[in-house]
Amino acid sequence: MIADYQKACQKRVDDCLQALFVAPHPQLERLYQAMHYSVMNGGKRVRPLLVYAACEALRGERAEADGAACAVELIHAYSLVHDDLPAMDDDDLRRGQPTTHKAFDEACAILAGDGLQSLAFEVIASAAHNPADPALRLQMLGVLGRAAGPAGMVGGQAIDLGSVGHKLDRAALELMHRHKTGALIEASVRLGALASGRADAASLASLSQYAQAIGLAFQVQDDILDVESDTATLGKHQGADIARDKPTYPALLGLDAAKAYARELHDLALHALRPFDSAAEPLRDLARFIVERRS
Ligand code: IPE
Ligand code: IPE
Ligand code: MG
Ligand code: MG
Ligand code: MG
Repeated sequence: MIADYQKACQKRVDDCLQALFVAPHPQLERLYQAMHYSVMNGGKRVRPLLVYAACEALRGERAEADGAACAVELIHAYSLVHDDLPAMDDDDLRRGQPTTHKAFDEACAILAGDGLQSLAFEVIASAAHNPADPALRLQMLGVLGRAAGPAGMVGGQAIDLGSVGHKLDRAALELMHRHKTGALIEASVRLGALASGRADAASLASLSQYAQAIGLAFQVQDDILDVESDTATLGKHQGADIARDKPTYPALLGLDAAKAYARELHDLALHALRPFDSAAEPLRDLARFIVERRS
């Protein structure tokens, strides 16, 4: 069931995303190709799925969540392009293909990332595919900006890169994960809720609790998969964190305790959804998917 839901939402967001990569001038062809390559290459689309599922939990219209769904995936794709650069994680494989700086070149990858980030804000500010109410769109713009920026993902990446080779304690590791991955996942859920036009303070608070738990669980599982999956399944190099001495949950707690923690976070997420009825089923399914996924 989750597979069908996933497929339908993936197609929906992919159709919206595809339309963004038409070069407005022949001289921009290569830049647009690099952006297209970085986005339309088989990502799981977990963040757009969370946008749609949160919108649906409040019985909103999917069509009003398309803009937010595209925007979070654009920010995510940009973060991966930059994360893979030689100055950061220096990876040559992503989603089973050469990373953007390998398929194009480094300058082009930096610019493609920059371009994807700007596009995300253009898309979420636009009246098309978003709620008609401009005050709501302004609020959504703020949510996305905060999650993507120095108080969110970019801050987490800075902590990550500053921590290589250092021993982080559990609180510091959690802070890093909550920023680098959790912030955009929480924003995805909040944006979906806002896009429904039906979010009140209480539902937003419960959804944020859910999202914080699965956001952290997502990165804990990413760390686990780096240890126990394989490169073909992952589409990125297994063992890359270990090779680079990255601070991760399995490195800090051991594999079994890391798995138990992911499970605990999953249960916390479900607990936060107690006030919601069956319309929140896709959110519940996604929580399970996040901790059981193999890639
Ligand atoms: C990978 O994210 C990077 C992290 C934030 C852990 P995903 O596992 O969502 O990557 P794709 O989009 O499916 O490739
Ligand atoms: C990346 O974390 C998080 C981002 C914000 C891009 P990782 O460095 O662990 O992601 P992977 O393992 O390369 O996908
Ligand atoms: Mg990284
Ligand atoms: Mg990386
Ligand atoms: Mg990783």
